Amino acid sequence: MPSRWDEIHDSLTLGVENPADVPFTKLIEQYMKKLTHLLLLLATTTVLAQNASLNIIPQPVEIQQLVGSFTLGKATTIGYNRAEAKPVADMLARHLSTPTGFALSAKEGKAAAIYLSLNAKSNDRIGKEGYTLEVGAKSVTIAANQPAGLFYGMQTLLQLFPKEIESTTSAKVFWTVPAVRITDYPRFGWRGLMLDVSRHFFPKEDVKKYIDEMVRYKYNTFHWHLTDDNGWRIEIKSLPKLTEVGAWRVERAGHFGDRAAVQPGEKATYGGFYTHEDIREIVKYAAERNVTIVPEIEMPGHSMAALAAYPELSCTDEKVYVNPGTGFADWFGNGTFRVNMENTLNPSDEKVYEFVDKVLTEVAQLFPNPYIHVGGDECYKGYWKEDAGCQALMKKLGIRHVEDLQGYFMGRVEKMLQAKGKKLFGWDEILEGGLSPGATVMSWRGMKGGIEAAHLGHDVVMTPTTYVYIDYCQGDPTIDPPIYAFLRCQKSYSFEPVPEGVDAKLILGGQANLWTEQIPTLRYAEYMTYPRAWALSEVFWSQKKDKNWDNFAKRMEAHFQRSDVAGKNYSKAVYDPIVRTKMENGKLVLTLASEVPGLDIYYTIDDTMPDNYSTKSSGNPVTLPDGPITLRVQAYRNGQPIGHLITLKRRQLEDRAGN
Ligand code: ACM
Repeated sequence: MPSRWDEIHDSLTLGVENPADVPFTKLIEQYMKKLTHLLLLLATTTVLAQNASLNIIPQPVEIQQLVGSFTLGKATTIGYNRAEAKPVADMLARHLSTPTGFALSAKEGKAAAIYLSLNAKSNDRIGKEGYTLEVGAKSVTIAANQPAGLFYGMQTLLQLFPKEIESTTSAKVFWTVPAVRITDYPRFGWRGLMLDVSRHFFPKEDVKKYIDEMVRYKYNTFHWHLTDDNGWRIEIKSLPKLTEVGAWRVERAGHFGDRAAVQPGEKATYGGFYTHEDIREIVKYAAERNVTIVPEIEMPGHSMAALAAYPELSCTDEKVYVNPGTGFADWFGNGTFRVNMENTLNPSDEKVYEFVDKVLTEVAQLFPNPYIHVGGDECYKGYWKEDAGCQALMKKLGIRHVEDLQGYFMGRVEKMLQAKGKKLFGWDEILEGGLSPGATVMSWRGMKGGIEAAHLGHDVVMTPTTYVYIDYCQGDPTIDPPIYAFLRCQKSYSFEPVPEGVDAKLILGGQANLWTEQIPTLRYAEYMTYPRAWALSEVFWSQKKDKNWDNFAKRMEAHFQRSDVAGKNYSKAVYDPIVRTKMENGKLVLTLASEVPGLDIYYTIDDTMPDNYSTKSSGNPVTLPDGPITLRVQAYRNGQPIGHLITLKRRQLEDRAGN
């Protein structure tokens, strides 16, 4: 089918090979016909490079906004053409019924106002997950090659309804959808979100809600970080102590990483785990929403919870506790560290491989996808260095560096996985010991590991801390609770997963990672995830050429309003002023900026509260006077304060300058 652009282009040309051969009156007649057609087309079509007034996230590939609208009423019918489309049609009917209060249901057959259609002949342009959506005055049609495409078409359609469609109770509005024609498909096949359920436990219902929210933004991979030093969260029937002991820790309040050590005799009361039944239920729930779950079982490092249950699997056999958030490692910068409480499995002990095999056997049975993530990151080798068994193994293998024992360990784990029909996935440290060609690498220490892995021919998922670590604080560190580092939404939006010089086919996609040391609740997980995961959904789904922060920011604000209706949490840190300083010739130089466009930023340095009559920042650097000044900054929009007041004393301003 020609696009409207083709039609417009066609109407601007006569389609006559040699106009000189055609009588003049005939030419005029043809021109008039073309002109009338063009005027009609222009009257009914606005082709939008960005969905300026539609606010869809992630940005679809192609949108034509038409004149008119469709209005849903209590008699609106929902239909589908084949049984495989029924689950999505039912889901759509359920989604629409609650906020509208209409008892809508879906039926197989052609005569329906909202119609979900699986293509009889494949539309090659949209692939497995793409869809077309056509909204006219009387009908809405979503067409796709596979149910996944219908599912994403449904998500887009829901975003076209008024924000009240997010309401959990019935609302009174006109349920009007603007007339559009959309063609949409993803840029990447791997659009992931990782949730760490070890540092804090998220019950089954929370996990489902987290999945519900990610799919609205067309994420399709849920990386479930199930084990770590702070809790083992998956039932392994052949190793019951993993959850009897490893899933529970003593309860501690306060900043994670600074908490007091466990005392002998203290009761472990905080935690939880997922039974096999829970896991099957969540895997099924996710699959119904086009989400693949990639389980992660951390090894050989980050294994303190496993060692609390089975201390004999470490080098020292010493009793350790499931860690409640104490600082048990020293970090020396430049990626080096020492772990002061053993948290690694002993690679020289055959019992360890029996243990790993038992764990992976059950994990492989529970998760149908081909990948099992086995961690491999931040494995401290200090205990291995001092262990006689490890030394003997190194000698036997002809290994000179203790670091290479991890390669030996991972090689054995990979063979186990292959025997179970699974593929090994690991953090980029797995490259250090040499890898078999089938292994897939998750690049987290920047893009470097991913680039190296791709050059070696491995598949790669890009998850660099610098763009996608959504556990990092996102607003000013004097406002948002500080954690390891800092990542603004705009920076996430600027992420490009395919580095230059790398075969793009090997970059499966990207993923945002939510580590939960400081995230005790689902509500706070939402705060940390959004809006950055909205920004990243656009990186993973939308076309690179359509990236436009200002346009995204406008749509993001519309989604803030939708989240408000839904009662879902998100961060408004994008409204907080960005305060940057530098030292020049012994003087503090200040630059103020904002993430979202259209804000006015006012500040004081005279110990008064700023308002919109205070000094307004031009955005240019200003030299601050010497003396014990305090900077106070507040953003305004249309004369109203927006975002937080930021207050920084001279010392903090100097620290920020790297002094
Ligand atoms: C990681 O963040 N340690 C993979």
